[in-house]
Amino acid sequence: MSTPDDKLTLDISKREGTINLGAGPSSLPTSVLLEAAQGILDFSSTGMGLTELSHRSGTFKKVIESAEEDLRKLLDIPENYAVLFMQGGGTEQFSGTALNLLASHAIAHPDYVQQHNGQGPALDYAVSGSWSAKALKESKRLGGNAKAVFDSRKLEGSDGKFGIIPPTSTWQLSGVDGSGKVASKDELPAMLYYCDNETVDGVEYTPAFPIDQLPKEYAQNVPIVADCSSNILSRKIDIAAHSIVFFGAQKNVGPAGVTIVIVKKDLIARDPDEGVSNGGPRIPTTLAYKHHADANSLYNTPPMFAIYASGLVFADLLKSKGGVVGASQRADMKSRAVYDVISKSQGVFAATVKDPASRSRMNICFRILARDGKTPNNELEERFIKRCREKGIEQVKGHRSVGGIRTSLYNAVSPEQTLVLVDVMKAFAKEVQDERRA
Ligand SMILES: Cc1ncc(COP(=O)(O)O)c(C=O)c1O
Repeated sequence: MSTPDDKLTLDISKREGTINLGAGPSSLPTSVLLEAAQGILDFSSTGMGLTELSHRSGTFKKVIESAEEDLRKLLDIPENYAVLFMQGGGTEQFSGTALNLLASHAIAHPDYVQQHNGQGPALDYAVSGSWSAKALKESKRLGGNAKAVFDSRKLEGSDGKFGIIPPTSTWQLSGVDGSGKVASKDELPAMLYYCDNETVDGVEYTPAFPIDQLPKEYAQNVPIVADCSSNILSRKIDIAAHSIVFFGAQKNVGPAGVTIVIVKKDLIARDPDEGVSNGGPRIPTTLAYKHHADANSLYNTPPMFAIYASGLVFADLLKSKGGVVGASQRADMKSRAVYDVISKSQGVFAATVKDPASRSRMNICFRILARDGKTPNNELEERFIKRCREKGIEQVKGHRSVGGIRTSLYNAVSPEQTLVLVDVMKAFAKEVQDERRA
């Protein structure tokens, strides 16, 4: 039998010299990928690769259980929350969150739809960027009674762009009257949805989404749902203040393919079809949280490799990198260093997010300006991308809807790598300033 010995050496020298600042899928720790490479060929000396095993085997059961255990430790997830490893990406949770919470609402309030002329309960959305805007759009498409409690693009001074998060006192919360009081508990929405970090636009709630500033009765009675796809594990989050926290893997967690949903157990509809006769939605089988919770995420074949590799990332963060506290300190330090160069660039760089308090620590979006200090200059931006590439920095082009530059400083990007970016930015700013003086 021929042996594959000649293929057993892995050349990762190019990787070592590359700084991948992509917005997602993005870089993962090399040590994790090397371990995963072993596991995909021969997992734990079974003679079989991880993705070649039955997902119902004891071996895989241990993998998924230990991933959940480590995630619970990292995020301090209370016992009364289920952790579901699902598929379909963040996008599928735009419908998953709305449908599951509407189903629970229909069971808890059997007469609601009938008493409201066939209309379901309100669904509130905080629209601070492209992803929350998409979630709202999907919710409406599904027939939900969904509305924006604010839309950053419509605020004064926004120029139709995302970048400002208005004070909570101005939010149009359903069931709350002008004086900030809940008029009737029955009229409260079935959820308040937000996206903690808007990957495309570089907008993040800092230090956290302001649950503590919402009217108390609203915050206590409305299920709060967070899309944390692009900043989970980069800072602490109060899971107990939420009903659902979900995230796709492909930023701080692992390879694309698994979407993790942390959901308060008493909000999982006990029978996903029970509310249908009350006007609740019919949820596609694989989207109903109940099925995944009952089967410990093995209702159908799960994305085994993505779960395995994510588990390795969790263990690495927990055991070698100081957990979420360590990641949070590094994220603060890295992003501060880059924003600092932007603010001291004498008009060469300009952050696209106007309000410094809403600037993302994960996705730093900026433009490079022409001599007038106002107009973005595509030629300079292309030149900057080239300068980055000369130093091994890849994937810094901004999203097509925003333009400019986006440097994503996820957990796997080290402080040392960030300093290389900082040096390139400083040198570029000087180069442009010198040209302008000449
Ligand atoms: C914050 C956020 N939410 C949702 C999504 C959609 O995720 P997916 O592509 O996995 O459907 C993304 C994707 O980048 C994202 O960044």
